Amino acid sequence: MASEFAVELRDVVKKFITPEGNELNAVDHVTMQIKNGEFFSMLGSSGCGKTTSLRMIAGFEWPTEGEVYIEGKPMGHTPPFQRKVNTVFQSYALFQHMTVFQNIAFGLEMEGADKNEIEKRVKRALEMVQLTGMERRKPKQLSGGQQQRVAVARALVKVPDVLLLDEPLGALDLKLRKEMQLELKALQQQLGITFVYVTHDQEEAMTMSDRIAVMSKGKVQQMGTPVEIYERPANRFVADFIGESNFLEGTIKSLSKEEAVVFVPQLNAELTGIPVSDGLVNGEEVTVSIRPEKVHISDKVLDVNSFTGRVTNTVYIGTDTHVFVDLMGKQIKVFEQNRISRLDPGSFYSIGQEVILVMWPDNVLVLKKG
Ligand SMILES: Nc1ncnc2c1ncn2[C@@H]1O[C@H](COP(=O)(O)OP(=O)(O)OP(=O)(O)O)[C@@H](O)[C@H]1O
Ligand SMILES: [Mg+2]
Repeated sequence: MASEFAVELRDVVKKFITPEGNELNAVDHVTMQIKNGEFFSMLGSSGCGKTTSLRMIAGFEWPTEGEVYIEGKPMGHTPPFQRKVNTVFQSYALFQHMTVFQNIAFGLEMEGADKNEIEKRVKRALEMVQLTGMERRKPKQLSGGQQQRVAVARALVKVPDVLLLDEPLGALDLKLRKEMQLELKALQQQLGITFVYVTHDQEEAMTMSDRIAVMSKGKVQQMGTPVEIYERPANRFVADFIGESNFLEGTIKSLSKEEAVVFVPQLNAELTGIPVSDGLVNGEEVTVSIRPEKVHISDKVLDVNSFTGRVTNTVYIGTDTHVFVDLMGKQIKVFEQNRISRLDPGSFYSIGQEVILVMWPDNVLVLKKG
């Protein structure tokens, strides 16, 4: 294979002039390397530059600065049809008057492929997305998930090395979306082709991806595996965007190679034994972050990082109960799994009840400011 990377963006900038006359960096110095056979996702909220990045890989837009490489080759102004990628668009409009077969065959017919070849490849694409037997239906005779699979089959029929997918499941209801997530992931693994997937849904990205680029305002905030991004967010934005976090402001009081002591004025207390990352200095002001499911409610005071507070609210959500605890005026969110089936409301925490929160050192993260 020509290159270790299926797709590479090197310091790519895309500027748009808005109708209001302002210059906007829709994509702002983005560098990412997507490996062969990888399921790679770009994750971020609306307007962060996901579609624009994908369109530059596909060749529908050209970078203002920087370069897109596909299989090691700089793409320059190579038109879309000469790139070894195919796209499933954000709105996957199928041709309503055509059958499933015709929809999938369309691109091959445009290329002038012969009839037998078309039949063979459409059949194979239908098998991939498990729609064999539906070739004569029209899109409106299919469910949303089936239509989605036709859109995927249409992109797969040319057997691209890289499939670009822009929020392909956005129109589906939650249950179907979850099914399709697993199906698409299985399909990607089975075919061994590279998927570059765009979504604003963090759970979707976590479920499907080998690696994720978390984006905000045109920039990549962090790139890593789902576990890395969740357990070691690079900054406050990522810790806040992926899952939920409690944040406390503090100052590093002492620092060794492995551990820090952080003074938190809001609690008038120190958090000790906190694992440190590179680049922190003594006296530095930092943000301390701890995930709600990693705060432990204890029935006794322990000798590390335990604090007495009062329950202000509880929310039962089935799998978990969310317990809100006031610690010296600071609200801390705790998620407790409901591991035992019970109906008695008295068996949950009551409002005003005193509880002890333990923040085990390994569960606490120190994040740099700014
Ligand atoms: N052709 C264009 N002209 C001017 N501005 C544009 C153009 N296309 C996109 N933008 C702007 O660039 C930014 C990034 O848009 P983009 O479509 O890449 O976002 P996105 O991350 O895909 O968002 P969404 O999740 O809503 O699809 C937005 O602020 C958008 O308004
Ligand atoms: Mg988009």
